[in-house]
Amino acid sequence: MVTTKEPARELVDRFGRRVDYVRISVTDRCDFRCVYCMSERMTFLPREAVLSLEEIELVARAFVNLGVRKIRLTGGEPLVRRGIETLLPKLGALQGLEELVMTTNGSQLRRLAPQIRAAGVKRLNISLDSLRPDRFRHITRTGRLEQVLDGIEAAREAGFERIKLNSVVLKGRNADEVLDLVDFARERALDISFIEEMPLGQIREHDRHETYCSSDEVRALIEARYPLTPMTQRTAGPSRYFSMADSRSRIGFISPHSHNFCHECNRVRVTVEGRLLLCLGNEHSMDLRALLRAYPGDIERLERALVEAMDLKPERHHFDLEAEPQILRFMNMTGG
Ligand code: GTP
Ligand code: 5AD
Ligand code: SF4
Repeated sequence: MVTTKEPARELVDRFGRRVDYVRISVTDRCDFRCVYCMSERMTFLPREAVLSLEEIELVARAFVNLGVRKIRLTGGEPLVRRGIETLLPKLGALQGLEELVMTTNGSQLRRLAPQIRAAGVKRLNISLDSLRPDRFRHITRTGRLEQVLDGIEAAREAGFERIKLNSVVLKGRNADEVLDLVDFARERALDISFIEEMPLGQIREHDRHETYCSSDEVRALIEARYPLTPMTQRTAGPSRYFSMADSRSRIGFISPHSHNFCHECNRVRVTVEGRLLLCLGNEHSMDLRALLRAYPGDIERLERALVEAMDLKPERHHFDLEAEPQILRFMNMTGG
């Protein structure tokens, strides 16, 4: 008798890590040009190279069928993707998805926060590296601090369960603002994560080795004013969280250099071109766009490909700030 083997219904890699979190970059475009994320003059992809909203929805559905519980939309800036407000409720309604979340630069939130919340997005991560208008402009090259602060207010008014700020800390740029950023978060009961910059894409604006500021240094700056207690609570993301006795705010550290977290990696990414990227710090990938366009709507074929792709997931990244970046794609292609 011939027995047909049931295909695996979950995503597990060669190291036994179970993937239940997917980050989908919905556009490579952004209204900012952050110095660590993009070069000043970027050329963006033509429309046909980018997954359509229908293709994104199918990919998301296939992942959820395979046990993915958390989807994060990223960019570029996800809120500049045309039609994003129609995609969100469709993803929010996927049976089995526990968390639909988004990472944004905050510039469009005054307009879109209520719609995002209504689509079922419970938590929002908003990038904020400086509270000084001139510095903010310098770091983002084109951003206006006032607009983002207003966006943060709009998000608070829209009633998200939690809002987390993300600050990439650079020595000589914004490291002296760590305590101001913590106070800003505390005053508004927001969470905040401090991030070590990763060497993605070639940049000329600063030498990443010189501006590197480890999470331990940031933590020491904070502990001088607010004692921090490690928390066991996690978000399925890479942040290690700490609490303060007198505040609801949580302080997170994302430390790809100083505290490698690859052994507990539970995520993969889909780039704006539909490349399934098995690790942020490696190029191992599978071309989902080719499959989607050769077999439109064939979700079973897509699911089989996703299961197979798990064998490609590498053990860890090998970021080295002293060498030339090994990964030439910029963050805006993958959204982190
Ligand atoms: P939560 O769900 O709130 O925990 O969010 P998150 O930290 O998973 O996502 P967010 O988009 O806020 O990412 C914050 C930073 O973490 C960004 O700089 C990402 O590039 C980085 N990051 C997220 N996942 C990974 C990862 O797997 N590896 C590395 N090296 N960095 C990551
Ligand atoms: N290293 C670390 N974080 C980065 N981000 C963008 N580029 C980099 C980088 N090279 C952050 C943004 C945003 C998140 C999606 O990734 O500030 O918060
Ligand atoms: Fe845009 Fe975010 Fe990149 Fe800044 S870090 S340029 S806001 S995608």
